Amino acid sequence: MEIRKVGVIGCGLMGSGIAQTCAQAGYETIVREVAQDFLDKGMARIQGAWDMMLQKGKINEEQARDYKNNLRGTLDTKDLADCDLVIEAVIENMEEKLRLFPALDNALKPETLILSNTSSLNITQMGAVTKRADKVCGLHFFNPAPVMKLVEIVRTISTSDETIETVRAFAKSLGKTPVVAKDTAGFIVNFLLIPYLLAAVRMYENGLASKEDIDAAMKLGCGYPMGPLTLLDYVGLDTTLWAAEALYEEFKEPLYAPSPLLRRMVNSGMLGRKSGRGFYEY
Ligand code: CAA
Repeated sequence: MEIRKVGVIGCGLMGSGIAQTCAQAGYETIVREVAQDFLDKGMARIQGAWDMMLQKGKINEEQARDYKNNLRGTLDTKDLADCDLVIEAVIENMEEKLRLFPALDNALKPETLILSNTSSLNITQMGAVTKRADKVCGLHFFNPAPVMKLVEIVRTISTSDETIETVRAFAKSLGKTPVVAKDTAGFIVNFLLIPYLLAAVRMYENGLASKEDIDAAMKLGCGYPMGPLTLLDYVGLDTTLWAAEALYEEFKEPLYAPSPLLRRMVNSGMLGRKSGRGFYEY
C-alpha cells in the first residue's frame, strides 16, 4: 500500500514533532486538534523549529517553504477521511483512546491504517474497538520526534503482516530506524528506561546524592546525552508517571512502582520543562 497523505491526531509535544517529521519527509500532512489555541500553539512550535533550521543553514528557503506547504491544521476529523495513514498522539489515557478509535474508524476510509504513538498503553484494546483491528498497530516516536532516530513498531495479536510491512517502509521513509515489539507495556525502550528513571528519583528522594551529581554521573560516566533527572524533566514527569503506572499495572513488579516523590511532584503541577519546573527550573 502506498502512503501519500498522513493524518496526525493531537498537536502537543509529540503530535507536533510527528507532524513536523512527516511534512519534512514530503508527505501531505494534516494535523487535528480539539481547540484552536492548542492547534495554534503546536503549529507555532513546528514553524519555530523550521525557522531555527533555516537560521542554522540546515535547510534552505525553498525547503522551508515546501515543508510549510506540506502541513495543514484542522479541528475537524472529517478532513482526515482520505488519509492513507493516521497516527494518534493524544493524551496517555485509555478512556480517551477508546473514545477516539471508534470515531476514527467511522471517519476514515476503510483502507486507512490507524497507528498509536502510545508509549505503554494496550494497543490491542484500541484495535478491538474498531472494525479494522488488522490495520491498527503502534508507531512510537521518541522526544524530540524530528531528531531521535528510533521508532518502535508495536504489533498486536490482530495486526496483519501487510500493515507491519507498510509501517516499516513508512518509518524508513521518515529517516527512522524501526524496531518491532510485541504489544506489552513499555515495548522495548520504556521497559528498560522507566525503571532506570524511577531508580534515579528514588536515589534523589533518599538523599543518596544531589540531583546535579546523579545527572553528571550518568552523563559523564555512561556517555548518556542527558542525566536521568534532566531527561525526566524533558520527557515530562506526568508522562513518566503514566508509563510507570501502565508497566506496574501489567507486571506488578516493584521496579515499576512510581516513588511517592514523583507522584507528589506531578500532583503539584511540577511536570518538568513544559510547566517551567520539575527537578530543575526553566
Ligand atoms: N526539530 C528539528 N531539530 C531539532 C529539534 C526539532 N524539534 N529539536 C532539536 N533539534 C536539533 C537542534 O537544532 C540541534 O541540531 P544541530 O546539532 O544540527 O545544531 C540538535 O537537534 C541537537 O539539539 P541541541 O543542540 O539543542 O541540544 P543537544 O545537543 O543537547 O541535544 C537532544 C538535544 C537531542 C534532546 C539530546 O540531549 C538527547 O538526545 N537527549 C536524550 C533524549 C532522549 O533520551 N529522548 C527519549 C526520551 S524517552 C521517550 O521519548 C519515550 C517515552 O515514551 C517517554
